[in-house]
Amino acid sequence: MKVDVILGLQWGDEGKGKIVDVFSPRYDIIARFQGGPNAGHTIVFDGKKFVLHTIPSGIFHKNSMNVIGNGVIIDPVILFREIDKLREAGMTPEENLLIANRAHLILPTHRMLDAAFETDKKDAKIGSTLKGIGPTYTDKYARNGIRVGNICYPGFRKMVDDLREMHLKTVNSYGFDLSSFTLDGMSFYDYEALWFESIERLREFKVIDAEAYINKSLSEGRSVLAEGAQGTMLDVDFGSYPYVTSSSTVAAGVCTGLGVSPHNIGTVFGVFKAYCTRVGSGPFPTELSNETGDKLREGGREFGSTTGRPRRCGWLDLPALKYAIMLNGVDSLIMMKADVLNPFDKLSVCTAYKESGKHIDSYPFELASEGLELTYTDLEGWNTDLSSVNSMTELPPALRSYMKFIEDFVELPIDTLSFGPDRLQTLQAR
Ligand code: GDP
Ligand code: IMO
Ligand code: MG
Repeated sequence: MKVDVILGLQWGDEGKGKIVDVFSPRYDIIARFQGGPNAGHTIVFDGKKFVLHTIPSGIFHKNSMNVIGNGVIIDPVILFREIDKLREAGMTPEENLLIANRAHLILPTHRMLDAAFETDKKDAKIGSTLKGIGPTYTDKYARNGIRVGNICYPGFRKMVDDLREMHLKTVNSYGFDLSSFTLDGMSFYDYEALWFESIERLREFKVIDAEAYINKSLSEGRSVLAEGAQGTMLDVDFGSYPYVTSSSTVAAGVCTGLGVSPHNIGTVFGVFKAYCTRVGSGPFPTELSNETGDKLREGGREFGSTTGRPRRCGWLDLPALKYAIMLNGVDSLIMMKADVLNPFDKLSVCTAYKESGKHIDSYPFELASEGLELTYTDLEGWNTDLSSVNSMTELPPALRSYMKFIEDFVELPIDTLSFGPDRLQTLQAR
């Protein structure tokens, strides 16, 4: 067996959580391979809504085992907030959740470093979710990090204290101090106490060699679905650097984030919205800072699942989508939020980038460049409510044409279409 992959092709929040939940019954194992609690994956069913930050989106299916892979970084406080919410809803996540011992821990001081670095950037802020993502991955690569497997070491407390000490030297030099710093409305010290309590609770969970588990499962014929977080345009290498996250959000990240060989990557499903959104700072070529953008934001309820911030909205960017498809080797496309475009008579899609009047073939290195011009194609809207559509063949012709235009441009089929947040508001061609 091979590992299939679901990942985002835009700037995150494409609807990955919903689609992983919809696809989960077909897989034995669902595994998150990167990112941390900067992610917010929304799942809606039976009139209930859940937002997951660290736990894979297969958790609602009792028969799927869910793995938090080694490429993920974990804040135990946030993890247990999620676990407690699932328990309140009558679930027993301890039964179908496994945690990689090689996953790195986010310390409270990582979050403090994130805040210090962002504050210092002044007008050039990344717009980070301030969950400690950048500093934790930095410590991982600087070989200072602490991993989940370390929690059972007798020297664990000292490891944390030493790293905390190291962090404090930096944050103090940025003018931050522990006594005035707050995290999620708590004093730093209260958050830290909760962090240690959560570490104790982590000991009751199954912490495993996840790469061994996944490879053994594949060789025994079990199916695995890898769940991405963020999106390709936020990838640390290929996104609009430095306005990116700190992990490999692309399909290559599955190999390092779960410990599987490139030979074992199967179908790559790429998720994109029928338009574009971005939350946080950084260039966004098709952004609509006008009433049309507001209409997309209101219709799509485009407010961050993790931070509640309004998302910036714009038309679909086909050169960016094509670039993302290339980077990930996407086999099958999943288009989300088609319903949000229902009220539009006319739609636009970006079809080319030009620099100083010349067509650019590759994706531009500098998206914020002054000389960058965009070419748009106008398409008919479908102006039809989609709630009673039951199959791909029943779609309004203008929506079929919109999809066909995208399919022809990127040379890939849209096999799945989502037209509402609920699990059931999904159509599949095959
Ligand atoms: P993720 O981070 O990629 O999992 O996406 P988020 O959960 O952050 O954001 C997607 C938002 O759109 C959530 O509020 C979903 O409930 C919602 N959503 C997902 N699919 C659809 C859809 O087809 N139509 C509409 N209107 N909302 C959707
Ligand atoms: P999901 O998995 C959308 C954005 C932040 C910021 C930049 C860096 O829900 O799609 P970080 O906290 O990583 O230091 O922030 O990346 N960002 C996301 N935007 N969806 C996400 O995750 C995101 N995770 C991070 O807004 O611009
Ligand atoms: Mg999200």
